[in-house]
Amino acid sequence: MKKGIKILSVPVLSIVILLGFYFYNAESSDQGPVQPIRFSHKIHAGEDQLPCQYCHSFVDVSPNPGIPSVKKCMGCHQHIVGRDVDYDFDGTTINIKNEISKVREYWANKEPIPWTKVNSTPGYLRFTHKRHVKRGFECAQCHGDVVEMDQVYPAYRMNMGFCITCHTENAKDHEELTHLKDCLTCHY
Ligand code: HEC
Ligand code: HEC
Ligand code: HEC
Ligand code: HEC
Ligand code: HEC
Repeated sequence: MKKGIKILSVPVLSIVILLGFYFYNAESSDQGPVQPIRFSHKIHAGEDQLPCQYCHSFVDVSPNPGIPSVKKCMGCHQHIVGRDVDYDFDGTTINIKNEISKVREYWANKEPIPWTKVNSTPGYLRFTHKRHVKRGFECAQCHGDVVEMDQVYPAYRMNMGFCITCHTENAKDHEELTHLKDCLTCHY
């Protein structure tokens, strides 16, 4: 009985893996979520040129980059109330001053901003930002051109093929290649 299951699971696994490669690097068609505050990366990281790490402070020291707290926003928006000017945010007109006043409201109410996650990987996956950032990869390699996005959205389908292709292309030697392609490197 056991043997039968094992033999069967080999072709099933290969189909799963092939499917992964089929979707390799496909540009994602997902648009980002509608967030409680229309926060523009294009304005903050693009026009104002704030470095990613200014807000995602843990990206090179921990698996998780972190989403900034309202306190971080208020470091500027305590005094920057914003111009009374309309702005086209991905096709929705917002008023800059109104939108910033929402940040000040969360602060006054001592509430965190309930952002919806943009990227999410399944729970069985091991991923750490630190290792990738220390190795010199740019955010854009996995997240696309965030400085051009109002609402950030998943630029690529980060499926198994996406991860493994890069691991294969960037391994320093045979030993590292073996490690980076090992199922248990990415799966619990
Ligand atoms: C002024 C602060 C700030 C700066 C600077 C900033 N971000 Fe963000 N980032 C945020 C906030 C707030 C969110 C959550 C809201 C959202 O998803 O739009 C976020 C969300 C994200 C997400 C989606 C997270 C998820 O849920 O999966 C990515 C990816 C991201 N930022 C990448 C970047 C990159 C790359 C840069 C630099 C080019 C950058 N950010 C600069 C504040 C910032
Ligand atoms: C380093 C200073 C700085 C920080 C930190 C900062 N902002 Fe801003 N923000 C600005 C500036 C400058 C503008 C443009 C104001 C204008 O054009 O009048 C702006 C504009 C905005 C706007 C209106 C335009 C848009 O993005 O839709 C919103 C909303 C906003 N900020 C929210 C936030 C939130 C939320 C955070 C924290 C995650 C944050 N800001 C952190 C400087 C900052
Ligand atoms: C090798 C690919 C890769 C690189 C390079 C990368 N990221 Fe990510 N990022 C991911 C993946 C995969 C996720 C989803 C992880 C998850 O679900 O926990 C993610 C999630 C995020 C999130 C959301 C975290 C959260 O708490 O929800 C932020 C913010 C983010 N990345 C910012 C950055 C920034 C800033 C950089 C550059 C300094 C960067 N990333 C570089 C692959 C990458
Ligand atoms: C842009 C190329 C690139 C992409 C895309 C990429 N990786 Fe990596 N990854 C690397 C390289 C190179 C290393 C080795 C880093 C080091 O240790 O110096 C690595 C290391 C890792 C490690 C640490 C291995 C260890 O030794 O414990 C894990 C886990 C990992 N990657 C998972 C993933 C997952 C999951 C994805 C897809 C969501 C992914 N990676 C996407 C290039 C990439
Ligand atoms: C470099 C990282 C990496 C390695 C190595 C890796 N995987 Fe994956 N795997 C992923 C990612 C990322 C996903 C999630 C894809 C998604 O979110 O759609 C995944 C998903 C899967 C799934 C679930 C597919 C589904 O449709 O839900 C299976 C099964 C799987 N992997 C098996 C394996 C096996 C077997 C190996 C070893 C031969 C392996 N993986 C090696 C990154 C990796």
